[in-house]
Amino acid sequence: MEIRRVGVVGLGTMGAGIAQVAVQAGAEVVGREVSEELGEQARSKIDHFMTRAVEKGRMEAEDKDAAMERLTTTTTLDAFADCDLVIEAIVEELEPKRELFSELSKVCRADAILATNTSALSVGSIAEAADRPERVIGMHFFNPAPLLPLVEIVQAPASSQEAVDAAYEWAERAGKQPVRCNDTPGFIVNRVLIPLLNDCVRVLDEAGVTPEDLDKAMTNGAGWPMGPCALVDLVGIDIHTHASEALHEALGEERMAPPERLLRMQGEGKLGRKSGEGFFTY
Ligand SMILES: NC(=O)c1ccc[n+]([C@@H]2O[C@H](COP(=O)([O-])OP(=O)(O)OC[C@H]3O[C@@H](n4cnc5c(N)ncnc54)[C@H](O)[C@@H]3O)[C@@H](O)[C@H]2O)c1
Repeated sequence: MEIRRVGVVGLGTMGAGIAQVAVQAGAEVVGREVSEELGEQARSKIDHFMTRAVEKGRMEAEDKDAAMERLTTTTTLDAFADCDLVIEAIVEELEPKRELFSELSKVCRADAILATNTSALSVGSIAEAADRPERVIGMHFFNPAPLLPLVEIVQAPASSQEAVDAAYEWAERAGKQPVRCNDTPGFIVNRVLIPLLNDCVRVLDEAGVTPEDLDKAMTNGAGWPMGPCALVDLVGIDIHTHASEALHEALGEERMAPPERLLRMQGEGKLGRKSGEGFFTY
């Protein structure tokens, strides 16, 4: 199946990045937000990122202009009727996602692929709300989506092989590094990384180590490209805590529960880079 027209629902941190990946890959893209203003903000953000790519010599100015012309925004779902692929990136809550997939499966063509970018919810329980659960899969991008190559292509129990293969091939053509996985908690990366980062945070207090020294140890001793504290600051303390809670709830391992120190930081509004302070100040 050829994917030419892509819909993105929710143009926040992830959705705007995914829309950028799709327009850069040559697709016609329609993005839906809850208000025209938020749609316009997302367009400006994408324009800004691509302008920077042009300035750095990573993109031709005319390619950027053509990509922006392929991007439209809307507040309804009407324009999704002729999309080949729709990627959802709205709030990480089950009920709004189920409601949306039920609506999408009524509006979209019968052969359209409907993908969720959820990090921690079950793709299968979102798919159950759709009229054609065999067309529903997970496409889990990583933040920032235009820069990080990985996309986990999640096959839920009802997902058809054809839908999974088409999404995988499209992600590859869009310059990504897709991997196939099943609908298990945390998929691949978060299943491994979340408990590991929680261990790192617990070591700070258990071993009386500073964030600077922990990051220095893991980058120089374990070859990590970025220290664990810098990484949690980049992801956002709130996002990491939320994903930890979901994984803990699903699998019950103590290491998966968010460490006290992160909950305290979240309570104090120290959310990492985005709030100007986390383990480090920005
Ligand atoms: N932030 C990350 O690091 C990250 C990484 C991978 C996956 N995810 C997942 O991606 C999804 C989005 O996360 P985010 O961080 O981009 O959130 P965000 O809050 O930045 O963006 C969500 C956007 O969706 C919009 N929205 C809400 N309901 C909508 C609807 N019904 N129709 C259209 N737009 C709607 C909101 O206005 C908001 O702009 C979540 O499922 C999250 O778990 C996040």
